[in-house]
Amino acid sequence: MVLSSLPGAKALLLGSLWAFCVLPGLGSDARRMRFTRRGGDLSGGIDAVVQKVRESILPELYTAPKEFNSKKRFIIVGDIHGAAKEFDDILKQVNFSAENGDQVILAGDMTVKGPDSNEVLKKAMEIKAACVRGNQDHRVVAAQYMLDNPDILQEFDLLSVGAKLPDGLQVKAKQLEVAQNMPAEDMAYLKACPAMVQLPAKYRMAVMHAGVEPSKPLSKQDPEWVMNIRNVLDNGEPSSEKDDGVGWFTLYNELKAGKGGNKGDSTEKTCGKPGGKPSGSLDQVVDHIVYGHDAGRGLNQLEFTHGLDSGCVYGRQLSALIMPGFELVQVPCKMYEEKVE
Ligand SMILES: *[C@@H]1O[C@H](CO)[C@@H](O)[C@H](O)[C@H]1NC(C)=O
Repeated sequence: MVLSSLPGAKALLLGSLWAFCVLPGLGSDARRMRFTRRGGDLSGGIDAVVQKVRESILPELYTAPKEFNSKKRFIIVGDIHGAAKEFDDILKQVNFSAENGDQVILAGDMTVKGPDSNEVLKKAMEIKAACVRGNQDHRVVAAQYMLDNPDILQEFDLLSVGAKLPDGLQVKAKQLEVAQNMPAEDMAYLKACPAMVQLPAKYRMAVMHAGVEPSKPLSKQDPEWVMNIRNVLDNGEPSSEKDDGVGWFTLYNELKAGKGGNKGDSTEKTCGKPGGKPSGSLDQVVDHIVYGHDAGRGLNQLEFTHGLDSGCVYGRQLSALIMPGFELVQVPCKMYEEKVE
């Protein structure tokens, strides 16, 4: 799978998020094309539609919810994929209690593959769980967009050319089915999940589905890669495959360790003026990244990165990380799908 991105979407996103702060190098970065597709060429008509769809469905890059400041415990849960029973099991296992100040954060891919995406989202809303959007969730949102815009579905027949479209728009029957059967309030919850969510500053931690491009500060990440990255290639480009290059987390940990870890990300020295990074910005306060997405590598706990996709939907475990304390809790899962994608 090759993920691609359009400069327009990136410029739009950065422009809206960091309007108060001129980011050096934005121009050249935004112009850098990384648009590759599987399959043959599509017409210019499809290109324009693809760009429109991508821009329309992008999640917010990050949020740092104010209500987090009053929470006592954060319970970060890996990829659930519709395994509603196991989601219940793990909430019991960690003694979840909203009254006692527990906050659940879902690390993405709450939907698709397993038996009951709607039930998982209902439970998530009931317990006021925070969430980030995963690559499968993103395809469900894309499917919903296409269902809402039948002209796009019909005129360009996006579904039938799915294999030629960039990831996120490669909507297949299973995501379409999930979208078609999803109540509007569940879909609204899913759509509102940002690409990253930040814990209160003292935890120095953010949750996202797949990871980051280690060479870029968090505020300059591309939300599509945040939902899809696994590796960094020799040429420095991100990849959603894990066969070539090196795991993003390996480079990230090297970078953090080399820089003294808790000093934060200093890959970007200035923000418009000397020493001018906004105080308390995501770049400054995050060291630890908690993520899912990589069931192939499974549980992956390193110093600064905490990979929680232990393959629940494939009959392995559902994992949760509890903060403060970095305690790991797991529950066994039924096998709902045989093949790790
Ligand atoms: C949940 O509560 C039980 C019983 O009080 C306790 O043994 C267990 O350690 C608790 N689990 C967590 C993750 O705090």
